[in-house]
Amino acid sequence: MSVWNAETAEWYAHKYGEHATNRLAVKELKLKPGSVVVDVGCGTGSALRHAAAGVRNGTFIGVDPVPRMLEIARERTDSHPHGAQIEFRSGCAEALPVADGVADVVFAFDSFDHWQDTTTGLTEIRRILRLGGRLAVVKDGAVPGGSRARQAFSDALALAGFTVCSSQEIAGDGVSFTMWVCTVAD
Ligand SMILES: C[S@@+](CC[C@H](N)C(=O)[O-])C[C@H]1O[C@@H](n2cnc3c(N)ncnc32)[C@H](O)[C@@H]1O
Repeated sequence: MSVWNAETAEWYAHKYGEHATNRLAVKELKLKPGSVVVDVGCGTGSALRHAAAGVRNGTFIGVDPVPRMLEIARERTDSHPHGAQIEFRSGCAEALPVADGVADVVFAFDSFDHWQDTTTGLTEIRRILRLGGRLAVVKDGAVPGGSRARQAFSDALALAGFTVCSSQEIAGDGVSFTMWVCTVAD
């Protein structure tokens, strides 16, 4: 059973809703003007607000299954200077409410380990990515198991049909995280 509900959404938004990880991960991705970005398990929408602030003419879609989380995301985004570029949709990784082949970049920031079915989620992400598009998976903190575990996750992404371009540990502003960036394998 998922732990995500109205109560945990409030708790998360209060404690981690503007976590520095989102800003640092977005910065690392160097998004291009006009990018279509889909954030799977977008939480409060913080990553998309950072992305929208740095990308001209972008389209930003946040997807989350928890109604209260989406309400908070919309509340925080409505007053944001780049909020008009951001849209939130109810859905989950396993059934993304996004058309085929439209996304330039998909974020899965601290959401992957919360999906019900990661195989189906990754298949869905392959479906919505355009050719050459990128998937960025972030896991907060040090990956338990170190470099072996990091490699094991890269192998799992490869098995799911992605080419892993990089996997790196990033630290700053009091946070540390691991980010894998991949494209769809030919
Ligand atoms: C730890 S929070 C991370 C939120 C946001 N990405 C961030 O980094 O601040 C995990 C998020 O995953 C969402 N989630 C739970 N099950 C999901 C699923 N099956 N598909 C997509 N997102 C899911 C939760 O509602 C929650 O917003």
